[in-house]
Amino acid sequence: MDTEKLKNLFSRCGNGHVFDFWDDLGEPERGALVSQLEKIDFGDLDLLRSKLAAKDSETAGENEAGMRPAPVVALEGASLENAVARGERELRAGRVAALVVAGGQGSRLGFDGPKGCYPVGPVSRAPLFFFHARKILALKKRFGASVPFYVMTSETNDAATRAFFRENHFFGLDENDVFFFVQGMWPALSPDGKIILDRKDHVFFGPDGHGGTLAALKRSGALADMQARGIVSVFYFQVDNPMVEIADPAFIGAHVAANSDFSVKVCAKRDPQEGLGVVVERGGKTQVVEYTELTDEEKCARAPDGELLYKYGSVAIHVFSVPFLAREAEAGLPLHIAHKKVPYVDKAGNTVKPAAPNAYKFEKFIFDALRDARNPICIAFDRECEFSPVKNAEGADSPATCAADPSRKWARWLAAAGCGIETDAQGYPLRRVEIDPAFAADAATLKAALAAPGAPRIPAEGVILLSL
Ligand code: UD1
Repeated sequence: MDTEKLKNLFSRCGNGHVFDFWDDLGEPERGALVSQLEKIDFGDLDLLRSKLAAKDSETAGENEAGMRPAPVVALEGASLENAVARGERELRAGRVAALVVAGGQGSRLGFDGPKGCYPVGPVSRAPLFFFHARKILALKKRFGASVPFYVMTSETNDAATRAFFRENHFFGLDENDVFFFVQGMWPALSPDGKIILDRKDHVFFGPDGHGGTLAALKRSGALADMQARGIVSVFYFQVDNPMVEIADPAFIGAHVAANSDFSVKVCAKRDPQEGLGVVVERGGKTQVVEYTELTDEEKCARAPDGELLYKYGSVAIHVFSVPFLAREAEAGLPLHIAHKKVPYVDKAGNTVKPAAPNAYKFEKFIFDALRDARNPICIAFDRECEFSPVKNAEGADSPATCAADPSRKWARWLAAAGCGIETDAQGYPLRRVEIDPAFAADAATLKAALAAPGAPRIPAEGVILLSL
């Protein structure tokens, strides 16, 4: 677009300041700024500004009217067996895909790079992506059909993510079964609704939230790829949890049997303040209410039996039906707003990193699509087996816990295979253990793998690393 026209457009919407440093810029910088500005959708910008204007009238606590805990099912006995059998049929028929959202920035973790590259293997230091990809490889080996892997990145980490998979030979997956797609980005706004320059020649953009998955699936052709492959169910998860049981047959089977559009795995919260969205029913609909949008009173409320009223948290492990994803790709999700620290240029053109929140970022959350879903179901699972995310640099959900928790699970598998190792009172092994998911994906496959001719022996002491 012609630069004068662009300048006029931005001045007319009160954002002429994005050209404040134009005269200082060389041709390449001008080109880069223009190409960023051309990507800004004025319709979206209006939505962000309306959200900003309305923010003071929406506060935590507006959840009260008729909100109650959503029904949660635990699969046991015959219902578990039926769900497993159904899920296995879906996997054998090649009707299941996996989707990881890996577009976020590991800012709380202080890791500079795609979070999926973060090393979590207690022995090998293998990255999160390794564990996810190897589980998908194990599914192919077990069920004889590919589980295509859709990886959502952001503009910030897309090139690095693709390069990482390539350097690691796709961790053994067929590269034709891995589909990268990029989520959208939105500008942040200052309190008076203005776009923010973080350099003289650069507008600050942030990812549009994992709710951006829906539009990005369509835009990128990933949805069409799923449809062309005959995929019916998409197992969705977050990149930060190395323990996720990808495409677990029971969950897939329960989802398909319920003819559900959107199924949610939930677990009991560790404590009232744990950062999990909770599953509720409101206005006859199942919904996830994010932890940041609950009051302390709601977080701590108790049921008559003394348990937390909102006991079950969503750990962002879902199954979607493909027709639902196609419908929702067209529907708009609500916006969420957060007060954050956003770098900006001062009048002299220097980048300033603020010490306190100075601007508003906007995101969409995928779980807001639940309100449009037919037959949503919430399935409870045991967090010790499937959930230990790496989110913080230390303390809970840190690199230490996310190495220790899988090790405890692997020690349990070893014991079940007749190769028990010494553990502490909580079951954490006293030596470092790691099992490549492609070597064994559960206790039964570990037992079989260790009994097979030529199987590796468990050393009497020192670290244990079982890999292919
Ligand atoms: C998230 C969920 C919370 C859930 C918890 C479980 C949100 C808003 N909340 O909290 O309900 O109980 O995880 O661990 O997600 N991501 C993108 N693009 C984005 C933003 C995020 O791909 O624009 C991805 C991240 O890479 C990550 C995941 O989404 O895999 C979660 O993002 P994060 O910001 O870490 O969410 P939490 O606050 O931990």
